[in-house]
Amino acid sequence: MNECIIETRHLTKIYGNGTEKIHALDGVSVQIAPGEFVAVMGPSGSGKSTLLNMLGALDRPTEGQILVNGQDLKKIRNLDRFRARTVGFVFQLHNLIPTLNSLENIEVPMVGQMSGGRKRRQRARELLGLVDLADRARHLPNQLSGGQRQRVAIARALANQPALILADEPTGNLDSQSGADVIKLLRKLNQELGTTIIIVTHDPAVARQTDRVLVMRDGNIADDHQVGHPFEEDLKEFRDSGLGQSLLAGEEAALAWLASKGLSSLPRLFGT
Ligand SMILES: Nc1ncnc2c1ncn2[C@@H]1O[C@H](COP(=O)(O)OP(=O)(O)OP(=O)(O)O)[C@@H](O)[C@H]1O
Ligand SMILES: [Mg+2]
Repeated sequence: MNECIIETRHLTKIYGNGTEKIHALDGVSVQIAPGEFVAVMGPSGSGKSTLLNMLGALDRPTEGQILVNGQDLKKIRNLDRFRARTVGFVFQLHNLIPTLNSLENIEVPMVGQMSGGRKRRQRARELLGLVDLADRARHLPNQLSGGQRQRVAIARALANQPALILADEPTGNLDSQSGADVIKLLRKLNQELGTTIIIVTHDPAVARQTDRVLVMRDGNIADDHQVGHPFEEDLKEFRDSGLGQSLLAGEEAALAWLASKGLSSLPRLFGT
């Protein structure tokens, strides 16, 4: 299954030992395609962070397999290098180094990967531009707003051009406007760089911006669905209206034309 960037097979994580065993993950099997933007939702304690940590090789599963680009994580010898090259992490708490400015924080993951301070500095500047903070290069984290800090953290996550970004409640501490800006930025990276993104969120508005929602319950995936077209509800209303019916009923050419306009869910709604 090389079309998957990530595949898990019967992934299990049991914390504790003896009598106090917690099945944080209970046989999760899921496949994620390259370029997907996936939201992970579900109640507190359902295993979302545990799953993300396993996918990013921050922790080891008790049982089961994780394949990244077809490669079994268990067989990767140098996990530090794997993490540094393949995965970018963004957490709820931005985890920036308080004594380094924005530019220097973004440089941190490149130090071990890219020799040449000048090249690193140049790349960090590009990334700061990408997250729209070129004018905050010399600011320390405590001189930035929460949303700006999170954007610096995203730029840092991108430093080594990872194929995959794992974000655990990156908007959890932000007001709704800053949260929306962060999601917009992730969407842009997803579309322009093709980065696969998996984001844990409690916010249905955030989940609606993604392609696919996994809902976890008791350590497993209870629901897995594609996110509809943002105008799907309006389209349904149009379909059900007398006008929609008379304009489009049975008109295959009209439906095909709409599909060519990116409204391919409309024919589906019409049942063609
Ligand atoms: N290091 C640990 N040691 C023991 N138990 C743990 C550990 N980490 C998590 N757990 C337990 O595993 C279960 C899943 O935790 P996890 O952090 O994955 O939940 P979550 O879905 O991310 O919740 P939240 O929405 O509150 O962040 C919980 O019951 C938690 O108490
Ligand atoms: Mg969590």
